[in-house]
Amino acid sequence: MTDKLANTMWGGRFAAGPDSVMEAINASIGFDQRLASQDIKGSRAHAAMLGATGIICNKDMEIIREGLLTILSEIDSGTFPFSTVLEDIHMNVESRLKDLIGEPAGRLHTGRSRNDQVATDFKLWVRSQLDHAEEALISLIDAFLDQAEAGADWVMPGFTHLQTAQPITWGHHMMAYVEMFGRDLSRVRDARARMNESPLGAAALAGTSFPIDRHMTAEALGFDRPAANSLDAVSDRDFALDFLSTASICAMHLSRFAEELVIWSSAQFRFVTLSDRFSTGSSIMPQKKNPDAAELIRAKVGRIFGANVSLMIVMKGLPLAYSKDMQEDKEQVFDAADNWMLALAAMDGMIRDMTANRDSLSAAAASGFSTATDLADWLVRILNLPFREAHHVTGSLVAMAESFECDLSDLTLDQMKSVHGDITNKVFEVLGVKNSAASRTSYGGTAPSQVRAQVARWRKVLS
Ligand code: ARG
Repeated sequence: MTDKLANTMWGGRFAAGPDSVMEAINASIGFDQRLASQDIKGSRAHAAMLGATGIICNKDMEIIREGLLTILSEIDSGTFPFSTVLEDIHMNVESRLKDLIGEPAGRLHTGRSRNDQVATDFKLWVRSQLDHAEEALISLIDAFLDQAEAGADWVMPGFTHLQTAQPITWGHHMMAYVEMFGRDLSRVRDARARMNESPLGAAALAGTSFPIDRHMTAEALGFDRPAANSLDAVSDRDFALDFLSTASICAMHLSRFAEELVIWSSAQFRFVTLSDRFSTGSSIMPQKKNPDAAELIRAKVGRIFGANVSLMIVMKGLPLAYSKDMQEDKEQVFDAADNWMLALAAMDGMIRDMTANRDSLSAAAASGFSTATDLADWLVRILNLPFREAHHVTGSLVAMAESFECDLSDLTLDQMKSVHGDITNKVFEVLGVKNSAASRTSYGGTAPSQVRAQVARWRKVLS
């Protein structure tokens, strides 16, 4: 298929246009049109700098900047004529600028290349997503804090191996997620600070002989400084990988809580009731209320992890500087970002709406000999037994309770004395789950006093 015209942006040395398959594999406009507003912002900053440094005249600079605003409004109103022949957002915008303002449009690309242009656009886009993620995480943490505060002293079973381990408080469990999402928040802020260097003006790879002012464009685009090495600036996608790995870890946290919600909302557990707003029914079984939002959050980690791995593989082994492989960075990041934001918002809504079933929680807390450790600790503290012996005595009492199919607190004092003669009535004080939880006052422990202190600390951190 050689009847097509060569690309008007770079076709000077080409006699024929690309094969249609070439066009299909080469074009990125189908997805990189999401960078339109960043592209225009970057070009306006570049044009202003070209004017200020006298590289182009002020009149051209103003016409270019005006034209770019017109294009932005065309894109916003959906009237912009995107063209696959023009490959990508950068050439689509520049070509349209030529239609609108004529000859001065051709001066915009002085002292820059699509390589620094795309790196700049993409960085601006990723940076805005980090800002969204920061906001969403702060809100999610706030939702968990509200739950923790309300239920600082509600007892529930704490698990290891998903087997009842020790009584804990609802607030303590919620606060575990505050810690996790708090680390995600700090990773988001970290990533933003690290990535905030401007690639613009690195040009194709080596910089330019025009007297450009990279500090000026960096500042105009809200970057802290220009990137210090032009080769690195055009070939770096660490910022996208930082974004994806941060998103991956956070998605893993979201997925863990989603899994707990799926378990907790089951008829076997009944720890929580999810709101109708975040559940669905079954088309055949009228009794069902399914935790679909939690399940979908649990599933979405797959595509987010996938994007991270995918871009790592694209980037590994690429020689410096730019290679077209890097065009494959965008769809992965776009998809991961969309799904990360959606998962954060869905989790936020579910947490704010969900109701803890306090009776089920405390009944479950009391089952499974969850206060066995409290009994062993009591034997150490009050009877001065070595911990190993106390562990053994408690084990015998658990076996006895199991044989009577009752709880530790249902054993009589005489039954207890048959295992260790020094046990007194006082032992029953530590066998209650509320006392057990309240006694764990070590820093970061499950006692309501500790939970309330951590809630207060986090509220201060976030304010
Ligand atoms: N569409 C390209 C990308 O996304 C823009 C950069 C093209 N640069 C080049 N030298 N062909 O990476």
